[in-house]
Amino acid sequence: MNLFKDAGHLFRFAGLFVIAFLVFLIVRHYIVPKTFGEYGHYRAAAITEIAAHPIAFAGHQACVDCHTDVQDTKAKGKHAGVNCEACHGPLAKHAADPTNVIPPKLDTAVLCARCHTASAAKPKDFPQVDPAAHSSGVACETCHNPHSPAISAGGAK
Ligand code: HEC
Ligand code: HEC
Ligand code: HEC
Ligand code: HEC
Repeated sequence: MNLFKDAGHLFRFAGLFVIAFLVFLIVRHYIVPKTFGEYGHYRAAAITEIAAHPIAFAGHQACVDCHTDVQDTKAKGKHAGVNCEACHGPLAKHAADPTNVIPPKLDTAVLCARCHTASAAKPKDFPQVDPAAHSSGVACETCHNPHSPAISAGGAK
């Protein structure tokens, strides 16, 4: 007992630790989400929450079902492998209500350059240009049909 004669300060300090630990347990109880740990080290409810997000992309088949003319043009051209929404952006709302939700007009100076601006990092056989020098400010779709962009030897669309 003699050993702890003057140890009051140690017990007060240990008491502080106990209080801090209790505060930690209380705070933890309130801030850790209810479903954490249900299936492992993550929040189980995250799965249903993410699944409930509204869908932004309609998918290529939806566009093709209504815009058969565009698809016919595209399928024969060099953009056959580029899906509609890769250029037009996510259009699930348009596909669900096509007369009221009209897709925004695209700016080809931005859109086409995004894929075709020349860069040493791109595969050599991928068609690429220096947009400024190649088009000298003229909009790309003046010469290229966006849905079938290759220009025949004649130079017309
Ligand atoms: C249910 C039928 C339907 C579906 C599905 C649909 N569209 Fe449309 N789309 C229309 C109609 C109707 C219009 C209105 C004007 C028209 O006839 O061009 C339109 C207009 C457009 C326009 C604007 C044309 C303009 O005049 O500015 C674009 C671009 C377009 N759709 C792209 C798409 C893409 C990309 C998809 C796939 C995500 C898609 N659409 C899915 C029916 C549809
Ligand atoms: C390589 C990019 C690209 C792809 C892929 C693409 N579009 Fe377009 N589309 C454009 C551009 C650029 C325009 C002209 C500017 C505008 O109207 O916004 C356009 C115009 C349109 C228009 C309105 C004018 C027109 O030509 O009839 C419709 C409708 C359309 N696209 C539908 C589609 C559908 C459906 C698909 C897939 C089958 C598709 N697009 C694929 C870039 C693209
Ligand atoms: C999402 C990427 C993407 C966008 C955006 C895009 N393209 Fe393309 N483009 C491609 C791919 C992929 C090919 C096919 C390349 C191949 O055949 O090796 C292609 C092919 C082409 C070709 C054919 C070149 C040849 O071999 O003759 C031209 C021209 C072209 N695109 C112009 C355009 C124009 C103009 C626009 C804007 C309206 C545009 N592209 C937007 C991906 C894109
Ligand atoms: C004044 C007409 C004109 C304009 C504007 C134009 N092009 Fe071209 N482009 C051509 C011609 C002509 C060719 C050569 C024929 C071909 O390869 O299809 C070509 C070829 C290309 C090619 C293929 C290059 C290759 O090495 O195979 C790409 C990619 C291309 N253009 C993209 C664009 C983009 C992106 C824009 C807009 C920034 C644009 N073009 C604007 C006329 C034009």
